[in-house]
Amino acid sequence: MNAISEDRQTRLRAVAAQVADRVEEAMRSDLASALHGCDPLLVEVLEYGLFGGGKRIRPLLAVLSSSICGRRDADVYLLAAAFEYLHVATLIHDDVIDHARNRRGREAVGRKYGMAAAILAGDWLHARSMHLVGRLTGSEGLDIFCRATGAMVDGEFLQLRYVGDAGIGEQEYFAVIARKTGSLIASTCTIGALFAGGDLGQQQAMNRYGEKVGAAFQVVDDLLDYLGNQQQTGKKVGNDFIEGKVTLPVIAAMEQAGTEERRELKALFSGDRTRSGTCDRLYDLLERLGGFQRARQTAEELVREAVAALQVFASAEEEETYALLAAIAEYILVRNK
Ligand code: IPE
Ligand code: IPE
Ligand code: MG
Ligand code: MG
Repeated sequence: MNAISEDRQTRLRAVAAQVADRVEEAMRSDLASALHGCDPLLVEVLEYGLFGGGKRIRPLLAVLSSSICGRRDADVYLLAAAFEYLHVATLIHDDVIDHARNRRGREAVGRKYGMAAAILAGDWLHARSMHLVGRLTGSEGLDIFCRATGAMVDGEFLQLRYVGDAGIGEQEYFAVIARKTGSLIASTCTIGALFAGGDLGQQQAMNRYGEKVGAAFQVVDDLLDYLGNQQQTGKKVGNDFIEGKVTLPVIAAMEQAGTEERRELKALFSGDRTRSGTCDRLYDLLERLGGFQRARQTAEELVREAVAALQVFASAEEEETYALLAAIAEYILVRNK
């Protein structure tokens, strides 16, 4: 990383911490009013799911997307909170679907409170996030938001369709991640711009930036699932393989593999993935066939495309916010959690 990028990362960390504090304040006061008189267990489950971890990237994107289009008043933190609600709803449900035990360094909501509580808490967060987005951005914002949520669900279905199939290609992989991750991040950025009264060109630029950031974010998440450290990511490493998810490192390795290696990769995914030694064997193959390296290059390319999408904002007036949005895209490549 060069000196300019390092300087941007330092500034980004400071702004991210400030935004996270304000968004948490907004969530706490919103929950206090929305949950007034509700069952104490619902309150407890939501507080457990929402606080005590999380990078708060989506709220930060909402705030900066609004800011780059010229709006910086306090209501933006409530809008940002709505995106964290939606995100946490998807995580709570995703951990049920993925049989994940850990999230954000502690027990996943479904493990701690049971499946019924996880489903219901996620539903509550979905409903509350829609309510807030509708209130703050009207039917236009709500329409974008609901389409993105629908796309996310569709992406999870598509992913289930491909479980254990190491024969899928990049096209299938990118269709999954665009829907399950890109759509929500893109909608966060687009709605941030809409909230600020940004024109269509600005909304489209933020949408494109969000799609690219979202895809890069998921590619890196999929890399961290093999190369990360549970202490840092707060979730189990190696879960994608156990769940049969065929991600970019695998697809890239398949492209380089000879007949015998292809056969072995396919057999690893379609066989008993919990058998001892299988994950280590897969890891060796992915490393040797350049799967990790190729996925990383793809993430770098997506980050370049994300930054390029911000070009319309590169005026002196918006220089600071532009630099922060570019820094978020670059951060994705250096993150380890
Ligand atoms: C995890 O998102 C889910 C993905 C889309 C990969 P984050 O990595 O942003 O999770 P938190 O909010 O920091 O826990
Ligand atoms: C992100 O994919 C899923 C969502 C849309 C929430 P993952 O299943 O890879 O996310 P993690 O690794 O569990 O956070
Ligand atoms: Mg998951
Ligand atoms: Mg993952």
